Amino acid sequence: MTKILILGANGQVARNTTRVLLRDSDAELTLYLRRASRLKNPDPSRVTIVEGDVLDPKTLKRAMAGHDVVYANLAGDMKRQAEHIVAAMHETGMKRLIFISSMGIYGEVSGEQYSSVLDPYRDAAAVIEASDLDYTILRPGWFTQDDEIAYQVTQKGDPFQGHDISLNSLSTLIMKLALNPAMAVRRSLGVSRG
Ligand SMILES: NC(=O)c1ccc[n+]([C@@H]2O[C@H](COP(=O)([O-])OP(=O)(O)OC[C@H]3O[C@@H](n4cnc5c(N)ncnc54)[C@H](OP(=O)(O)O)[C@@H]3O)[C@@H](O)[C@H]2O)c1
Repeated sequence: MTKILILGANGQVARNTTRVLLRDSDAELTLYLRRASRLKNPDPSRVTIVEGDVLDPKTLKRAMAGHDVVYANLAGDMKRQAEHIVAAMHETGMKRLIFISSMGIYGEVSGEQYSSVLDPYRDAAAVIEASDLDYTILRPGWFTQDDEIAYQVTQKGDPFQGHDISLNSLSTLIMKLALNPAMAVRRSLGVSRG
């Protein structure tokens, strides 16, 4: 049974992915978030909730031990967050990381200049790409609430296709990556409806 640590578990995508993982897999989840009282445990038989900040190395390492996959769903000072995650993964012997970034970090969206807004995402991706982890960076388009599951991926170096991605599609892809240790390893994938 795959054990997944979800960092930033109260985020919009993380909450949707938790729901999808509980419905469509038998994975065990640890939900790591600040101010944990905001989150109700959706299934105490499979879910553990840990209060913590990703920038707190001691709590992060303690939470990480024993998991197969780290899925980071963060915002804010993402370069520092990525540095802390990579360090904690090294120290706990973990390899597999799924990290949510954004479309546009490599200038791959034609006609769009995202400038400094995306600097934290670019810098975080650079930290992860320089590591020896089995990472998959996801660069999703704009989130929609559509029910449909429809997505296509583009590789780093390719132009981004489309503009939007439904949360359910993104969560489905995250679940597949989390359950398949060899899928898209050391890749940075653009994700959109196409
Ligand atoms: N909206 C879009 O269309 C779109 C498109 C592409 C990419 N993205 C990006 O995709 C990512 C995921 O999206 P989302 O909607 O799920 O984001 P979100 O709802 O803003 O969730 C991000 C989470 O990160 C947590 N966080 C920030 N710093 C932390 C720290 N030091 N320790 C622990 N947790 C921390 C926040 O926790 P708190 O609740 O405690 O603050 C928040 O719950 C974001 O970076 C977003 O910008 C969004």
